[in-house]
Amino acid sequence: MAFALKSLANSLATTHAMAACVAFTVVSYAPAFGAEPFRPHYHFTPERNWINDPNGLVFFRGEYHLFFQHNPFGDKWGHMSWGHAVSRDLVDWDELPVALPEADGVMIFSGSAVVDWRNTSGFGKEGQPPLVAIYTGHRPADGRQAQCIASSTDRGRTWTRFWGNPVLDLASNNFRDPKVFWHEPTQKWIMVVSKAEERRIQFYSSGDLKQWTRLSEFGPAGATNGVWECPDLFPLRVEGHPQRSAWVLVVNIGSGSPAGGSGTQYFVGQFDGQHFRTEGPLVGPDGALWADYGRDCYAAVSWSDIPKADARRIWLGWMSNWDYAQDVPTAPWRNAMTIPRELSLRETAEGLRLVQKPVHELERLRGHRRIFRGGTIEQANEWIRKAGISGDSLEINLELEPARTGQCGARVLKGAEEETIIGFDEVSRRAFVDRSHSGNCSFHQAFPGIHHSRVSTHEGRLQLHLFIDACSIECFVNEGEVVFTDLVFPGRASRQLDLFARASEPMVRSLEVWTLKSAFKWHE
Ligand code: FRU
Repeated sequence: MAFALKSLANSLATTHAMAACVAFTVVSYAPAFGAEPFRPHYHFTPERNWINDPNGLVFFRGEYHLFFQHNPFGDKWGHMSWGHAVSRDLVDWDELPVALPEADGVMIFSGSAVVDWRNTSGFGKEGQPPLVAIYTGHRPADGRQAQCIASSTDRGRTWTRFWGNPVLDLASNNFRDPKVFWHEPTQKWIMVVSKAEERRIQFYSSGDLKQWTRLSEFGPAGATNGVWECPDLFPLRVEGHPQRSAWVLVVNIGSGSPAGGSGTQYFVGQFDGQHFRTEGPLVGPDGALWADYGRDCYAAVSWSDIPKADARRIWLGWMSNWDYAQDVPTAPWRNAMTIPRELSLRETAEGLRLVQKPVHELERLRGHRRIFRGGTIEQANEWIRKAGISGDSLEINLELEPARTGQCGARVLKGAEEETIIGFDEVSRRAFVDRSHSGNCSFHQAFPGIHHSRVSTHEGRLQLHLFIDACSIECFVNEGEVVFTDLVFPGRASRQLDLFARASEPMVRSLEVWTLKSAFKWHE
């Protein structure tokens, strides 16, 4: 996102946001904390005020840390600081005080955190390894962006900025979002960082996190319409091949994603400690490889230091879009994170592709399992009615055998005049999410719409795994081959679920539904 544009958007958005706040006060006077309209039940949201990108994702001493871009003083982008939350299971999040506040005319932009197990930085204390945060210091006065570090020896509760900051400065206004990891074969720290306007990712190495040497560059490549932001780089296992892995370079782009606005693209290849080189065709049919085909998954980055015994690569994204993030009709908080997802690569006819699955820890939220074991759409709907299934906190696993023509799928968060449609179109062979009539769509002209992705049926079947949570739907198609993340703002009465078919009749192979409990203490 260009920062001049961000301030313009700030001022433009003020009028909309004020209108939204007034409406909010009139409709539901002083709702109890946690019971505000659209407050998610199990997605991370801050208690109040603005958030954007996840930052500093690191696991240490039994805690998953989630730092995030945060304005502690308002519900619009500004005063960027690192907010902080921790969780022991990726489900229950406790928000802690702001970890790294804006100070001395320097905002704390996006970045990462690592456990410095060997105390290469010398910031450790009494034989204990420090946590080191690597972030972009952004100076609003002249727009300068440079990489800085800070350390903590009390499990991320308090932080000391390095006296020698910045540690990497190219005298640039578009140099940001460092992601750092330990590269075992070369025994070095590697930094992946973006030259946003040039659509280039740079690679640096260091022995102590303070002195950085330039290694190489990647890009422009793939999708280059928008600025390149928040990169990540990691090795990833190929499903079903325990010995096979490839490296994934993640590049978030500020605009020009398939559904419009900001989105997450990736490249598959190899990293030898110096260069990243792509393997196979660089781009998919959409001009790039995309992690998400909805409009609301951005700045997705992965956790560092997940124990070897676990070995998962887990990430989450910011569940919003720069096109309208400042205007979404929520208060006193604005914006959320996606659910955490486990990543892997899958071998397909077109090459290795990224696959995402909800982390298994989320199963803890499941209430009673209800299952329909197959039949027609009409029978399935009759079963839904009899079982009394409805709600705004649901997990749904639907397996369909689409017919030869027409569309089929599910309608969720449905009321008299509202619905969000998640379906498959047999003629274009695309899955889609249609939120054009999902509820409040009028707060921004870029919000309503239909988002598509080409998908394959496997032995004539299509699987849709859905997570519905107050103001969002996440749809994992065919075991995570394609994902849609989309915000929706339905009225309080829109809670119904049904299945639909247009033109010929598909078969419902199975339909499983769970009501998900609320992960947050304030709902109990
Ligand atoms: C991405 C981004 C980053 C930057 C941060 C500032 O959403 O523009 O590039 O570090 O947000 O809040």
